[in-house]
Amino acid sequence: MQALVTTSLNTSEQIINRAKNIAYKLGLKYVKRRKKSLKELEEEFLSSGILVVSKNKLSIYIDGEEFFFHPGMAKIRIKALKNGNNDQMINAMNLRLGDSVLDCTVGLGSDAVVANYVVGEKGLVRGLEINPLMAYVVKEGIKNFKNPSSVLEKAVKGIEIINADHRDYLKELPDKSFSVVYFDPMFRNPVYKSSGMAPLRKLANHEPLDQLSIKEACRVARKRVVIKERSSSDEFKRLGCTKIIGGKKSPIAYGVIALGGDDK
Ligand SMILES: C[S@@+](CC[C@H](N)C(=O)[O-])C[C@H]1O[C@@H](n2cnc3c(N)ncnc32)[C@H](O)[C@@H]1O
Repeated sequence: MQALVTTSLNTSEQIINRAKNIAYKLGLKYVKRRKKSLKELEEEFLSSGILVVSKNKLSIYIDGEEFFFHPGMAKIRIKALKNGNNDQMINAMNLRLGDSVLDCTVGLGSDAVVANYVVGEKGLVRGLEINPLMAYVVKEGIKNFKNPSSVLEKAVKGIEIINADHRDYLKELPDKSFSVVYFDPMFRNPVYKSSGMAPLRKLANHEPLDQLSIKEACRVARKRVVIKERSSSDEFKRLGCTKIIGGKKSPIAYGVIALGGDDK
């Protein structure tokens, strides 16, 4: 099984060259589209995901579904925050203007966008994603994101995306180098209603969080380590969370390990 790069059906020399460059950069195989459907290419090459390069968009096709970067739920959450409502993730992080967040499981970047809205221009949000296709599409999506709402555009812009395994990346970071370290792993028992997650589920790494990464996260964070899981999950206990935020009216909750540093 391999991931591929191809172009949209409606293509040009410029798009083909861009697709070839991306394939080279990511160490993936470029395949000519040859008027074939994505399903046909998937079957022909037994691919585990196809990065499709078109004129104004990058998308990932897998198993009959296609997705691209869009701030999705983040838009609604930012609107709610603007209207003075609470956001459980932000509460769990005790996140403030100017803080820095290391999102160790950035996925499609929705949580990172909400965090970036709160920390503002003087803050920092860096997201790590283990899947190279997803990391690339989200990174480019952020770079090229345009929206009539300057609030949403500002929230998206500036988020740093790195294709990395947090188990390796955390080890290299200095002590107390981020205000908050955040994990939103694939749930041990998925919430199947969340259809927006369907394509992501096929590409994502499903391994559970490991205790060594949590230990490293506690060294790297100044204020808090926050873990998102199903409210009924045993993971909070296993990973040493001392407080659970949310989950009373929602199937999702946030486990907190409070570290004290500048956490007023
Ligand atoms: C539930 S999704 C995160 C969704 C994200 N919070 C959002 O708002 O879109 C979990 C993501 O973490 C990634 N992941 C899992 N293990 C990882 C690891 N060790 N290092 C980096 N990313 C990882 C998965 O591939 C997946 O994309």
